[in-house]
Amino acid sequence: MLKYSLFICSIVVFFVSCKPTHSDNVIEFNQAMQTFSNYEKVTCKHLDWKAKINFELKEIKGTATWTFENKSNEKFIHFDTYDMSIIKAKVNGKETQYFVTDFNKEFGSGLSIPISEKDSMVSVEYTTGADATALQWLAPSQTAGGKLPYLFTQCESIHARSLLPCQDVPANRITYNAEIETPRGMMAVMSAKNPTEKNPEGKYTFEMEIPIPTYLIALAVGDIDYKAIDDRSGVYTEPSMLEKSANELSDIPSMMKVAEKLGGPYKWRKYDVLIAPPSFPIGGMENPRLTFATPTIIAGDKSLVSLIAHEMAHSWSGNLVTNATWNDLWLNEGYTTYFERRIMEEIAGKDYNEMMWELGYQDMQSDLNDMGLNGEDTKLKIDLKNRHPEDAFSNIAYEKGAIFLRMLEENMGRKAFDIYLNKYFQTNAFVPMTTEKALTFMRQHLFNGDSSIETKLQLHQWIYEPGLPNNCPKINPIRFIEVDKQRSAFEQSGKVENLKTSNWSTHEWLQFLRKLPHPFAISRMELLDAQFQLTNTSNSEIADEWFKLSISSNYEKAFAKMEQFLSKVGRKKFLQPLYFELMSQEKYKPLAKELFEKYKNNYHPQTAEKIRGIVSPKK
Ligand code: BES
Ligand code: ZN
Repeated sequence: MLKYSLFICSIVVFFVSCKPTHSDNVIEFNQAMQTFSNYEKVTCKHLDWKAKINFELKEIKGTATWTFENKSNEKFIHFDTYDMSIIKAKVNGKETQYFVTDFNKEFGSGLSIPISEKDSMVSVEYTTGADATALQWLAPSQTAGGKLPYLFTQCESIHARSLLPCQDVPANRITYNAEIETPRGMMAVMSAKNPTEKNPEGKYTFEMEIPIPTYLIALAVGDIDYKAIDDRSGVYTEPSMLEKSANELSDIPSMMKVAEKLGGPYKWRKYDVLIAPPSFPIGGMENPRLTFATPTIIAGDKSLVSLIAHEMAHSWSGNLVTNATWNDLWLNEGYTTYFERRIMEEIAGKDYNEMMWELGYQDMQSDLNDMGLNGEDTKLKIDLKNRHPEDAFSNIAYEKGAIFLRMLEENMGRKAFDIYLNKYFQTNAFVPMTTEKALTFMRQHLFNGDSSIETKLQLHQWIYEPGLPNNCPKINPIRFIEVDKQRSAFEQSGKVENLKTSNWSTHEWLQFLRKLPHPFAISRMELLDAQFQLTNTSNSEIADEWFKLSISSNYEKAFAKMEQFLSKVGRKKFLQPLYFELMSQEKYKPLAKELFEKYKNNYHPQTAEKIRGIVSPKK
């Protein structure tokens, strides 16, 4: 952990021809908001971004022109940056000096530019660095088509600062337009109004006229085509993936209907999905107008599309009503997970949906176990002071957050709860939301000022205390009763032919595999594999669970396929447990290290960093 003194940063003067007249300029790192910027006093409003994408150098050369409001006659505007080279800075069109603080690996550097009262526009010319955490550059061989390279960004939580200088906090909103230049034959798409066809010169313009926080800025460049699903929705992906992806996602219009019933009218005009290459580091990212998603959800049977329901739900919880600080992340992810389950209940039915609640509950229990029932990070509202916001993205924010809302729904009744939820989104759209403000709204509009309800429901315990209160709802996954019965019969008899799995969805398989003993007898693993071809499954969720069980059972027949999986898929959620499992057995440690060395270049820099921590733990 870095000491506070590090953040009272010394100032490095880059513009040598001009003496620093502002030696009293101290950028104070705002630990609570993880920003060097002074966004509260000098507030960015609009971004005009010009950028040229250079695949040879793996760099973006850009100019970010910010329109800002200087509310209290400040002498400087401060930005966040991360590993970028600043070429020049201009204020209202005139070149000026600038200051950059020492680099910090987690939070980057502050960039400070002197301004006067009448100024309202600053522009920064820069190139991105090799360690830009928002960017993943793919070689042609890492794409489906194999001919053109690919670039995508992932800015949540605080990576936008490595894409362009910005005030990188979720509490401020900006509009943007962009001019992006790509090599010929490539398409660029953003979290904005998007083209549906390639421009022969590789010149693209974008506009996002609805204000968004910086973590929702997004760009992808590659051999990308578009296929519409209906007037409002469609899929962007590489040509060979287009048909499959559009079929898999054909439920988007009906999901959208359910979502609008819950949250109110969709405010972002279009809802498209970009199916990224397999090295995409997460499952999905709710970039407005254009969700980015991993291709590992294209299972062929729509069994993994709840991820799209989740990202779509963020169009309300997150993108409209946004966590003001990363300490309030549960307002984004917990509300969204609850919202996602409500969409899926309508789409797939209650019994189906209850399985997802149960698997989520198991994930939460496993985090509660790891963090300890008194662990500080098991609180919904957590304290990230001086920590990287990514620490907040545990199953606590997602699943404890979601089941807390389910508890409210069950106690207050669905009708009343839905009215409250709808009002929450409508009233607070485009407003940064803190946990405290959300609770005040809840007291008024859900409890109607009756404070005895709050006490009875243990509101304070749920939000501010660690662990899980005793009024946590009971999940009733009836379809798992049958799975558990069959599993225990199989454990006893070994009669694989008695397993009746033809109507099992992904979720039943996950329950089955998770609950088998770890390790499981190799002879039984062989029986299962022969009967159900689990090693060869094309379902990424089942494959991941099966490989985990295979490692712990020393079932090495699955290892070649597992290696293939580890070579291609970059989704952190899949990779971490497999490397972890390998490292937990002495004899597989060399294999884990070898696989990581072989395939680390296929992983996103942030993911590679995490895996490195697993295979080469600091002593
Ligand atoms: N907002 C998150 C993506 C994210 C996760 C950004 C971690 C930064 C750090 C997104 O909405 C999300 O939650 N994605 C999940 C899928 C979802 C179905 C739980 C994921 O990527 O696994
Ligand atoms: Zn989410």
